[in-house]
Amino acid sequence: MNIDELEKLFKDILQNAQRAVSEASQNELNDLRTKFLGRKGEIAQSMKLLGKLSQEDRPKAGKIANQTKAKIESFFRAMKPEQKLLHTKNDYTLPGRKNISGGSHPIRLVMREIIDIFYGMGFSVASGPEIETEYYNFDALNTPADHPARDIQDTFYLPKDGYLLRTQTSPVQIRVMESQKPPLRVIVPGKCYRKDAIDPTHYYTFSQCEGLYVDKDVNLADLMGVLTAFAKKILGENVKVRFRPHYFPFTEPSLEYDFSCPVCNGKGCRICKGTGWIEISGAGMVDPKVFENVGYDTDKYQGFAWGMGIERIAMVKYGIDDIRLLYENDLAFLEQFPHPFGCF
Ligand code: DAH
Repeated sequence: MNIDELEKLFKDILQNAQRAVSEASQNELNDLRTKFLGRKGEIAQSMKLLGKLSQEDRPKAGKIANQTKAKIESFFRAMKPEQKLLHTKNDYTLPGRKNISGGSHPIRLVMREIIDIFYGMGFSVASGPEIETEYYNFDALNTPADHPARDIQDTFYLPKDGYLLRTQTSPVQIRVMESQKPPLRVIVPGKCYRKDAIDPTHYYTFSQCEGLYVDKDVNLADLMGVLTAFAKKILGENVKVRFRPHYFPFTEPSLEYDFSCPVCNGKGCRICKGTGWIEISGAGMVDPKVFENVGYDTDKYQGFAWGMGIERIAMVKYGIDDIRLLYENDLAFLEQFPHPFGCF
């Protein structure tokens, strides 16, 4: 080994290093640094050869070795960030990954629409607790102690005496009337709980939207007018509405109202169970006994109220034939619904 051969060796290492660094991807740079400059790297190995040279050639060879090392170090430093990116193995020309954003649940969509419609008619939104007392859920609503709805088989009673999961949004009527003087117009969207056996139209959790209108000179025609206007807003002008006599402890007279089935246009289908009609809501004129319970003057004020089923409306609006779909959170189902901006 003579000085010329060693000089040639360092020159080759330098050239190899320059090419390798300029072509390397970000991930490969560290390995290259080790390969050329590491403790057992090519420079270090070649320096060992210095010992094989004559005494007088050694300083010169040492200088060449140090210069080569410094140059290689400068190659690594010279890698600009964008150059580093260019050399990574990532392909920056690929299309971006799809941003998965959450949407609104169909119950939420319908709820929001219902709120909008009643806002337009001058109603405001009230809310109340889902853990209720027997007083608000039953007694104040004129529900007798032996009424079947109170049955342990229908109501989720809580371990604490007198407490339950509300079976309806109606108790909020009482809470609102206790804290506000008439006249009033409120709606109460919210969740309710009943020990119903689960089937395509029943679930133990469901949603209602309660409504309460109290003023002087209020009558059944007002109730029918408001609910008919609502039906046309939510399902379109062609929907038909029918009212049937019914019984609720807190209204007199009481009725139930149905929409013509928008899925089959009243002809009869799976969703309306062949009847052409969908039961949407209970309703009625507020029983004066309820007004007495909150201290309203029954000579001066009358009112009407209703409690509509949100799931039912969502089901006919979107053609959903099984209520369980609304609670199972299957993404394939949920992704079919609009993803509006600004969910609440
Ligand atoms: N709370 C009743 C239910 O869950 C529905 C209802 C009927 C609400 C008549 C009312 C009403 O406010 O006036 O079945």
